[in-house]
Amino acid sequence: MIQYAFPKNFWWGAASSGPQTEGFFNKAHLNLMDYWFKKEPEVFFNRVGPDRASEFFTRYDEDLKLIKSIGLNSFRTSIQWTRLIDDFETGKVNKEGAAFYNKLIDAFLKHGVLPVINLYHFDMPLELFQKYGGWSGEKTVDLFVLFARAAFKLFGDRVKYWTVINEPMVQPEAGWLYGFHYPNYKGKGAEAVQIMHNLALASAKTIRAFREENIKGGEIGVILNLTPAYTASDSDEDKKAGAFADDFFNNSFLDPACAGVFPPALVETLKKDGVLWKAQDGENEIFQSGKVDFLGVNYYHPKRVAARKSPLPQELRSEWTPDVYFEEYDWPQKRINPYRGWEIYPKAMYDIAINIKNKYPGLPWYVSENGMGVEGEERFMDENGVIQDDYRIDFYKEHLIYLHKAIEEGSKCFGFHAWTAFDCWSWNNAYKNRYGYISVDLESQKRTIKKSGWWIKETAKNNGF
Ligand code: BG6
Repeated sequence: MIQYAFPKNFWWGAASSGPQTEGFFNKAHLNLMDYWFKKEPEVFFNRVGPDRASEFFTRYDEDLKLIKSIGLNSFRTSIQWTRLIDDFETGKVNKEGAAFYNKLIDAFLKHGVLPVINLYHFDMPLELFQKYGGWSGEKTVDLFVLFARAAFKLFGDRVKYWTVINEPMVQPEAGWLYGFHYPNYKGKGAEAVQIMHNLALASAKTIRAFREENIKGGEIGVILNLTPAYTASDSDEDKKAGAFADDFFNNSFLDPACAGVFPPALVETLKKDGVLWKAQDGENEIFQSGKVDFLGVNYYHPKRVAARKSPLPQELRSEWTPDVYFEEYDWPQKRINPYRGWEIYPKAMYDIAINIKNKYPGLPWYVSENGMGVEGEERFMDENGVIQDDYRIDFYKEHLIYLHKAIEEGSKCFGFHAWTAFDCWSWNNAYKNRYGYISVDLESQKRTIKKSGWWIKETAKNNGF
């Protein structure tokens, strides 16, 4: 008996990214992660870097076959800027890079897996960082559009679903505010705000370029990591802190992408504090005509906030920081994934879905990532080498039940992509936490379907559970 049936043609799929599956292997240029690993390998778990990652560069054909074999009808990966482009200033294409992505896309089609192709997944070319400060510089925005155009021209005949950027918020957050991705700055709030603006603008400009390329039957969206802000109490102060956190971390990308404007309250606050971004002439029109066809939402954990009562941490005191308006709140009832340290709160899936429905009526969207990373999964391996990851099945079911409820109430969600299909490299955590439906033995690179892989196969076949 199917208790939770999903809409017709629902995407049951998974997501990954170029840097995390193909890695650095055979590339002519370094991105910031490749560079960071060369410079400081010790900051990566067990000193495992992005060099070959999960060997997708050579194993893509069998990997896609395996993806299909567990019932997935769609899969997202990303094209690496540093693989496809030889000259970032002119957009000149690298022949080997183009040949690889051509073969990859053909393999998607051969195996009957819908390709969803993303253009940027935390992979800033080192040269552009050194020359223009990466996303801090306006110039990077236009160079990114050159790269995107090259990809549309090369692959637009076969790829119909495109996404511009994965989790733009992570760039300013991780690199400029809280120091967990290269260049590891902390408390550089004003620059972070400029980066947020430039990423949103890059997305709008890329969408306009996509329209100009006239890709038959093509649609384009953006992938946002949404962390709804839940407040410690209903007091006015806490609610104000929650509204600010929502605007800063979620609506700053949601609103321009889906409605073509930045949240007015956020703009006002940043202006008052003297840290509003430098805008480009005529950009309102660019945002208005650069809205998405669909939205992808990565949801892992919520944000819990309260009005700031404690002093700012020392490292955030030198410049403006968004943290002046809130502090993290430690909810006593929280459920935590101890390996990743993220709260597990499935109800947020419902809240996100309803918020999209109410704020951007009629906008189609899908869950572009959701998942649970677990360390030491070998502990759960049975005598046949199959990881019995019931915890992952439970995690997915709980989130899907809330998603189902929102769909019943009219939210236009058309798919669910797990993070991820097969275990892949995860930035600084490397292979510490495993997320896949399919395990990867790092030594032999052998792939084995986990219990959750068999579960999703059944779920996809039944279009529900
Ligand atoms: C998302 C990213 O934030 O979460 C992925 O899009 C990432 O690139 C995934 O791997 C899981 O997070 P992490 O940090 O555990 O790898």
